[in-house]
Amino acid sequence: MIRVDRDDAVAVLTVDRQDALNALDVATLTDLRDRLRDVAGDDGIRAVILTGAGEKAFVAGADIKYMSGLDVEQAKAWGALGHEAGRLLETMPKPTIAAVNGFALGGGCELALACDIRYAASGARLGQPEVNLGIIPGWGGTQRLARVCGLGVAKELIFTGRVVDAEEALRIGLVNGVHDPVLDKARETAALLASKSNVALRIMKELANRALGGEHGANLRAEGEMFGELFAGEDAKEGLSAFVEKRDPVFKGT
Ligand code: CAA
Repeated sequence: MIRVDRDDAVAVLTVDRQDALNALDVATLTDLRDRLRDVAGDDGIRAVILTGAGEKAFVAGADIKYMSGLDVEQAKAWGALGHEAGRLLETMPKPTIAAVNGFALGGGCELALACDIRYAASGARLGQPEVNLGIIPGWGGTQRLARVCGLGVAKELIFTGRVVDAEEALRIGLVNGVHDPVLDKARETAALLASKSNVALRIMKELANRALGGEHGANLRAEGEMFGELFAGEDAKEGLSAFVEKRDPVFKGT
């Protein structure tokens, strides 16, 4: 199951299937996709954290026992469901943060990669060990690991299936920081982001998601367009005036 805890404008989604190290079976992944849809569409939620229940695991991957019985069409549907969850994390109009509190393997690492920001506990282990099962990363790992860590690092990790510790994850840029307790750090950043202009955050996320794809000139033109459009809204007026008037801004999200 997925637990959803609300703390003011921050939602914490916790994958809770501890007897399988939070590995995702159909019910849990469907629940996750549905809860992500809920928080994506809830304007009162301004930042989202994804974590795993217990001390051992964030998510130990897709459920291997379930996958061992799949045929081609079922496997494609299973991949598509994982992609749906990843796309929600990646594109919802508010920041998403992975608090990686233990094993983040296979599909677990892929969900973390779909988040905007990743923090790891010092005992976390991350990797894409699918090759050891005779399969490939199927929930975005062949694409997003390269975007986050660079193609050379990504190929080494997905080809070998090597799992990295938190310190190496930080060094290769797979996580943004290593913190204990990791959820406290995720909550701190989420609260900070929730206090900022959610209009600016939404537009920055949309533009940043284009940074590694498409045509550079067109992306810059889109940035210029959206930069200009922002000046029609209240948050830009408020942020700029607050600086001039030497006071803290109060953003309304318009
Ligand atoms: N699927 C199903 N069950 C899993 C699981 C998974 N991905 N990972 C762990 N479990 C289960 C184990 O089967 C075990 O259950 P039982 O007690 O019923 O046997 C329980 O969780 C505890 O696991 P271990 O006893 O193995 O715990 P450990 O501490 O000795 O080892 C581990 C931990 C190194 C994470 C090990 O469990 C492991 O290697 N798990 C598999 C990791 C993996 O390969 N993940 C990728 C899956 S493929 C994928 O995700 C495809 C994709 O891209 C979508």
